[in-house]
Amino acid sequence: ARLLALHGPNLNLLGVREPEVYGRQTLADIDAQLQAQAEAAGHSLECEQFNAEHLLLERIHRAREDGTRLILINPGAFTHTSIALRDALAGVAIPFIEIHMSNVHAREPFRRHSYLTDIAIGLICGFGADSYRLGLEAAIRRLADTH
Ligand code: DQA
Repeated sequence: ARLLALHGPNLNLLGVREPEVYGRQTLADIDAQLQAQAEAAGHSLECEQFNAEHLLLERIHRAREDGTRLILINPGAFTHTSIALRDALAGVAIPFIEIHMSNVHAREPFRRHSYLTDIAIGLICGFGADSYRLGLEAAIRRLADTH
C-alpha cells in the first residue's frame, strides 16, 4: 500500500538540532531507513518535511486523492498548537500514527498536550529515531490485518 511519512517544523535540522534530545541521525538517514523498511514489507513510503503549517495541511489534503492508506506524522511543535492540523487529518479520514522522537511527557509541561492523540490510531514517543521505526512497524501490521 501507499504510505506517507510527514515531518513537521524544524525536523529538517535533525542531526544538528539539540542532539542530546533528538540524536545525531539526519532526517535523510531516517527517511532512507523507513523507505527500506516499508519496501521490505511490500509497501511504498513517501517522506516529506514542511516547516509551514499550510504546506502540511495541503499535503494531507492531497493524500486523500493519491490513495494514501496510512500516515505517520511527527507534527513537531504544531502538535501542541494546531487545531488546523487536527481538522485536516480528521477531514481526510486517513488513519494516522503520531510520532515523537523525544518523550514529550518528560519535558516542558506545554509539550504534554497534543491536539492529535485522541484521533490517532496510536502514539509512539521517546525512542529517538526508533519511534519512527516502531511506528512504521505498527502501521505495517495494521495494514496486514485490514488488507
Ligand atoms: C517533537 C516534540 C515536539 O514537542 C517538538 O516541538 C518537536 C519534536 C519530537 O519529535 O520529539 O519539534 O515532535
